[in-house]
Amino acid sequence: MIHILGISGSLRAKSSNTTLLRAAANLAASRDMSITVYGALVELPHFNPDLEGTEPPSVIKFRDTLRNCDGVLISSPEYAHGVPGVLKNALDWIVGSGELVDKPVALLNASPRSTYAQASLRETVTVMSGRLIE
Ligand SMILES: Cc1cc2nc3c(=O)[nH]c(=O)nc-3n(C[C@H](O)[C@H](O)[C@H](O)COP(=O)(O)O)c2cc1C
Repeated sequence: MIHILGISGSLRAKSSNTTLLRAAANLAASRDMSITVYGALVELPHFNPDLEGTEPPSVIKFRDTLRNCDGVLISSPEYAHGVPGVLKNALDWIVGSGELVDKPVALLNASPRSTYAQASLRETVTVMSGRLIE
């Protein structure tokens, strides 16, 4: 069984990106794969390098969940030609701890116009040594 962690870059209750991840989770259920959509990005505090070593439980939980999955599926909107702050903030929390290193990562996007955020996410995942799956 392959365990994939779905991460939506949108906190919107009716988010198209979260819906896309849930649809992928439904499809995966009929295969040897599970996709769990992470629902607690909103609980992460703003990244602060001074908190390294005394991270709050929300950060520990996020890192543990990432460490224990086989791959990551990110679906994110674009805000003002960039990656939404809540998603970039989450990724910043794992730059030092390294949960994305060698982790297969695939990027989805519910909007065909959102090319800047997608390109930026590709760059961020690559520099964090995640393994981008085309
Ligand atoms: C504040 C704000 C800024 C946005 N900026 C862009 C943008 O620069 N480029 C773009 O293609 N879409 C932009 N959009 C549209 C969203 O990226 C798009 O509607 C997305 O699919 C919404 O995702 P969601 O349904 O998962 O919340 C913006 C939306 C908001 C609310």
